[in-house]
Amino acid sequence: MKKYQRAITYGTFDLFHIGHLRLLERIANIADEVIVAVSSDEFNRLKGKSCAIPFENRRDIVAALRMVTKVIREDSWEQKREDILREQCDVFIMGDDWKGKFDFLKDVCDVVYLPRTNGVSSSEIKASLKH
Ligand code: CTP
Repeated sequence: MKKYQRAITYGTFDLFHIGHLRLLERIANIADEVIVAVSSDEFNRLKGKSCAIPFENRRDIVAALRMVTKVIREDSWEQKREDILREQCDVFIMGDDWKGKFDFLKDVCDVVYLPRTNGVSSSEIKASLKH
């Protein structure tokens, strides 16, 4: 039996890469169901990020993965607590580049930070393509 029933995680998932895949695999190893909130293009702009791939495509790529149960849209920083409660998640999981940043959600579910994969990120891919 896995430790958790339903996990939720958040991200942009632009230029889907091996770090994204490894994180979702690690989540699926400890939770029966995996809900992924994919950031909208508008929310990314607000975060100062510009995406190479539009939201609808990033969403469909993540939704096609066998370990992903459901994809929802992320439009704001504040929606997490509401999402966790509505989707009845027992754990909130992010890569450890976010360590400590979401501990304030511990009153609604467990908060877990999993190891990030070294040497790859969407920004690095974009930067290397520019050269
Ligand atoms: N992630 C990871 N390992 C990586 C890159 C990302 O585990 N090498 C995780 C992040 O910690 C996050 C999720 O994947 O929980 C989605 O991250 P996202 O911001 O989409 O990925 P990045 O590649 O880091 O994007 P950017 O370079 O734009 O920050």
